[in-house]
Amino acid sequence: MIRIGVMGCGVVADYGHIPAILQTPGLKLEAIFDPDPKRLQMESSKFGVEKAFTNQEAFLDSGLDAVLVSSPAPFHKDNVLAAADRKLQILCEKPLAMEDHQAEEMIRYCEKAGVMLCVGFVYRFSRVAQQLKSWVQEEVVGDIRSVRLVYDWDLHGEWEQDEKGKWIKAPRYTGRMDEGGPMVDCGVHQIDLARWWLGQEVVDYHAQAAWVGEYEAPDHVYLHLNHAGGAHTMVEMSFSYGHTARDVTPMFTYDLIGSGGYLRYNRDGYILDAHAGDRTIRVPGTSEKDFPAMHAAFAEVLRKGEPGDFPQGRDGLIATKIARDATNEVIASRKKLLQKA
Ligand SMILES: NC(=O)c1ccc[n+]([C@@H]2O[C@H](COP(=O)([O-])OP(=O)(O)OC[C@H]3O[C@@H](n4cnc5c(N)ncnc54)[C@H](O)[C@@H]3O)[C@@H](O)[C@H]2O)c1
Repeated sequence: MIRIGVMGCGVVADYGHIPAILQTPGLKLEAIFDPDPKRLQMESSKFGVEKAFTNQEAFLDSGLDAVLVSSPAPFHKDNVLAAADRKLQILCEKPLAMEDHQAEEMIRYCEKAGVMLCVGFVYRFSRVAQQLKSWVQEEVVGDIRSVRLVYDWDLHGEWEQDEKGKWIKAPRYTGRMDEGGPMVDCGVHQIDLARWWLGQEVVDYHAQAAWVGEYEAPDHVYLHLNHAGGAHTMVEMSFSYGHTARDVTPMFTYDLIGSGGYLRYNRDGYILDAHAGDRTIRVPGTSEKDFPAMHAAFAEVLRKGEPGDFPQGRDGLIATKIARDATNEVIASRKKLLQKA
């Protein structure tokens, strides 16, 4: 059994990572760590984890082989370096770090310590993304020239309703806008998918954006990526779509247009199909994320002691750098426009 510990037991650990680890053959959830005692207590009793720590050092000394880092982004570097010091294998949530130089330091540090730094690009592991990868590799619709990835939802909301229906401030969501907004927080998944599906690096990029709320970062971003092989990707990411509506219908689609047809996924109805000439291949679609499949793949990485196709620190750095540069570019051009006005 590979003993894994969780660093940061908030929302994504609760609904995604911990349940997935518990159902993965070969992985044992050995210990959890969260500096917030209330949160720690809640998670340890919910999942029946006896070894629960508010102290990072005690947690790291509790007999682990690997850690999953799911703290907020500003703490990833500290968690990763401390785990690498103990020679623990690491799976870290995105965005890898707040600044590129921090991500670079994390990668170097892990290399020097001889441990793997894997990144939790969970979208890659869904059946949808895996099927699209196979279709692209098999050239079912020829050579992919254009990729359009859209994720418009309402996370931006500054407000949420409590259990009595009263509107209250939602600091967690505000925090995620403060960490760079939708492209850095979520668009990194789409940037990673485009690089991975196409097998082509991004050679240049450019963004446009709109502000719906009054944050420094834009809450609706259009990012254009040119790939080394000549393909183009457009990522549209929004936290403000329907953010004032009670009944929000997020929009989540992938379109890949090739020289001989197109591939598409629409979460609304879980439509996943390939269209080439008079041939249509339709397979059952699923959710765009798959935490159990990611942890099963991570267990395999740990068993083999080599990363294979699992996203690595460098993938995390590249996606986050593009997302952050693009976001900074649009913030700067908006400031200029506002100064002129
Ligand atoms: N891949 C995905 O689909 C996905 C979804 C949501 C969040 N995320 C990412 O996961 C991370 C966590 O997000 P969340 O929504 O669960 O946040 P959250 O705020 O709900 O939870 C974070 C937890 O980390 C704890 N924490 C604070 N400082 C810590 C430290 N120094 N060490 C360890 N734990 C610490 C907090 O007490 C909290 O319980 C972020 O990087 C976020 O971008 C990924």
